[in-house]
Amino acid sequence: MNPHGINADPQHAVISLPPPDAAALAHSARLIDRIRAELDGRSGYIGFDRYMELALYEPGLGYYSAGARKFGQDGDFVTAPELSPLFSICLARQCRQILTGLPDGSILELGAGTGKMACDILLELQRCNALPARYLILETSADLKQRQQQLLQAEIPDYFTRIIWLERLPEQPLSGVILANEVMDALPVHRIVDRQGVLYELQVQWHGGDFAWLEVPAGPALSRQVQDIKRQLRYSWPEVYTTEINMTLAPWLAALSESLTQGVMLLIDYGYPRNEFYHPERTDGTLLCHYRHRVHADPFLYPGLQDITASVDFTAVATAAVKAGLDVTGYTNQMYFLLGCGLDTILADMGASGLRQQLELANQAKMLTLPGGMGERFKVIALSRGMAGGLAGFAIMDQRKHL
Ligand SMILES: C[S@@+](CC[C@H](N)C(=O)[O-])C[C@H]1O[C@@H](n2cnc3c(N)ncnc32)[C@H](O)[C@@H]1O
Repeated sequence: MNPHGINADPQHAVISLPPPDAAALAHSARLIDRIRAELDGRSGYIGFDRYMELALYEPGLGYYSAGARKFGQDGDFVTAPELSPLFSICLARQCRQILTGLPDGSILELGAGTGKMACDILLELQRCNALPARYLILETSADLKQRQQQLLQAEIPDYFTRIIWLERLPEQPLSGVILANEVMDALPVHRIVDRQGVLYELQVQWHGGDFAWLEVPAGPALSRQVQDIKRQLRYSWPEVYTTEINMTLAPWLAALSESLTQGVMLLIDYGYPRNEFYHPERTDGTLLCHYRHRVHADPFLYPGLQDITASVDFTAVATAAVKAGLDVTGYTNQMYFLLGCGLDTILADMGASGLRQQLELANQAKMLTLPGGMGERFKVIALSRGMAGGLAGFAIMDQRKHL
């Protein structure tokens, strides 16, 4: 089982990908036709950001929009809330600390996946008699929204009517907590190649019966963003350097910021500060695809049947947040965040019945905090408005100076 964002030899895993069945291949063929129709309507090529958007979110066909299993043992990857309730219990403790100062505070979760994180957070807050006024969910996938509703109605029926699914960000800004686990890595990215200082955008074309890359000179907005990044780096890039640029992140954060009158956004994802993300040794960027717990680097394989992701440049997150009028009040890795929220005492207090359950929980805690694995690859950033006082999750280690 491969946790999302953990790179398990992407170059070689492609050889052993299990073939999809006929129905899945037919589904993928329909999405290929849809993308090819768009290519034909343009000049024969589209930006990789648009390809990624269609492959993941095209209504009824994209990986997240259609009915693929996605999460868990029988899916393609596993996320922290799917791996263990310990993750969401820790987050619930952090939410509770924030909501204590905001009596009518709500929680807004973005991209709630199967609904497991919402469920475990709400069960923990219910146990502590600290349920929020409302729990809002903004989910772009109709398929996942349905799964979330089924799970939450079954698991937390008394509170179910206070869970509200939104079609877009709330018109009335809220006070409280905004949560997003592994949403930023699913935002479409541009892919670029820098050849001795000359910048090209990698676009997508149809060639020889398959999608293929096409290099075109980068436009002015993309070039400006790359030049800004290069100016801030401690190193220079090698002669040929391929990477990703997320142009969606800043407007996405600006819109989120407008939805928050007072409170904290906690954004969790795999990624790095800028100097590590754009390190000269990372010559092929961070683009990864997840298919049945195999990780590889070919985004053109089985469109609609596999996840496509890119790591997050957390310096870009912090910069965009400050521009949007938010304070960056904490940044650390998942291990320190969970420990800061009391993971060890939560584990001890869970009162596991018997050695087997105790070992299971201890193993889950280890997976969530493993250095070199989820504990280190995943980062948590807190973006606040109008809040005083430190947050528990960053009390052990705050790494904002690395941003
Ligand atoms: C990798 S999954 C993570 C799911 C869940 N948070 C978890 O940790 O298991 C990404 C989720 O974000 C959703 N999503 C992608 N873009 C989004 C956006 N702009 N707004 C809200 N949800 C989005 C997807 O449909 C999916 O539910």
